[in-house]
Amino acid sequence: MFSKIKKDFPILKRKINGKRLIYLDNAATTQKPIQVIKAIEDFYKKHNANILRSIHTLGEEATEMFEDSRKKIAKFINAKKEEIIFVKNTTEAINLVAYSYGRKIKDGNIVTTIMEHHSNFVPWQYLCKTKNLEFRVVDINEEYFLNNDELNSKIDRNTKVVAFTNASNVLGTINDVKEICKTAHENNAIAVVDAAQSVPHLKIDVKDIDCDFLAFSAHKMLGPTGVGILYGKREILEEMEPFLMGGEMIKEVSINETKWNDLPHKFEAGTPNIADVIGFGKAIEYLEKIGMKKIRKHDKKLTKYALEKLNNDKIIIYGPKDVEKRVGLVSFNIKNVHSHDVADMLDKKFGIAVRSGHACAMPLMSRLKISSIVRASFYIYNDEKDIDALKKALEKIIKIFN
Ligand SMILES: Cc1ncc(COP(=O)(O)O)c(C=O)c1O
Repeated sequence: MFSKIKKDFPILKRKINGKRLIYLDNAATTQKPIQVIKAIEDFYKKHNANILRSIHTLGEEATEMFEDSRKKIAKFINAKKEEIIFVKNTTEAINLVAYSYGRKIKDGNIVTTIMEHHSNFVPWQYLCKTKNLEFRVVDINEEYFLNNDELNSKIDRNTKVVAFTNASNVLGTINDVKEICKTAHENNAIAVVDAAQSVPHLKIDVKDIDCDFLAFSAHKMLGPTGVGILYGKREILEEMEPFLMGGEMIKEVSINETKWNDLPHKFEAGTPNIADVIGFGKAIEYLEKIGMKKIRKHDKKLTKYALEKLNNDKIIIYGPKDVEKRVGLVSFNIKNVHSHDVADMLDKKFGIAVRSGHACAMPLMSRLKISSIVRASFYIYNDEKDIDALKKALEKIIKIFN
């Protein structure tokens, strides 16, 4: 099945610097299948209109298609449709919570971890600074897992929010979300899960995890850019004030007062990214057709293969050894070679796209005592041949630089 998938992705036919494109930058953003591209084109060609306001046929069609996507996404993570808020990306989803929920916090502490992407670190750090709350950061151990004792001691009765990643975008480490949510709740804190790197790879069930908020981005799972999802527990969303104010998030406005709209519209001010939300619905359909179990299996197979192939005394690999406990990415450095030089050469000489730099995780870089990494990340259209090509290319780069 996975060998046939490549043909659905037109961009993979491209040549980069005379070589077949080998796209290994999926943790940054994935490529889009023709089905998603066509769904967006089809919307603009046949159904384009604004939603939730116009009585005409196109307006009704657009609204139905948009809301249909919401239902698909809700089902995908086992949420109710009114608990799915459309935003721009994971970053905006987390900022929404930090702003709207954060506004209610008066004292105490917020707990996060050293392995966070900046988008789940900076908003909380800023909230703590502006509200005089204590900002607590849980460290990792030598095996690249969160330090459990520290986690359990840093979350206490004064903790208001525990904000943590489901899977690290650098280490690949999968955290025990269910357990961390439980600890947060035992201390009367809410649990905010950054699922940008987990929803594309693992079957996520928000009811089972029992998180209060969960954020992810469409573009990291075959969908278009410009669409993010914030899942929030209904009862918590009901109590929160809106983040942005304007059209569609109101029920009634007068000179003296404004009444907020019902969920989820209370948090969706203004015209949303209609076409891309519909495109995301198609991406979900595509992933469901393959099945998340098979995607996870493929992921593990490639990660295991990559960890074996990149085993070289000139290559330092970061992240857990056990593929059961990591998502489909491998971060590494070649000794004495800057990550940008590696990425540049992979692109220019071999047509291989990888990420290099701090990966929006500067606190983690400092913790690992490095300034940057090279990251190869996999998705459903990658195969062993892509990893073989990466291995060969890296061996040549090692020779050139030594
Ligand atoms: C773990 C993690 N969180 C958050 C983000 C931010 O996602 P976005 O740029 O779509 O807001 C990323 C993106 O790389 C990520 O890997």
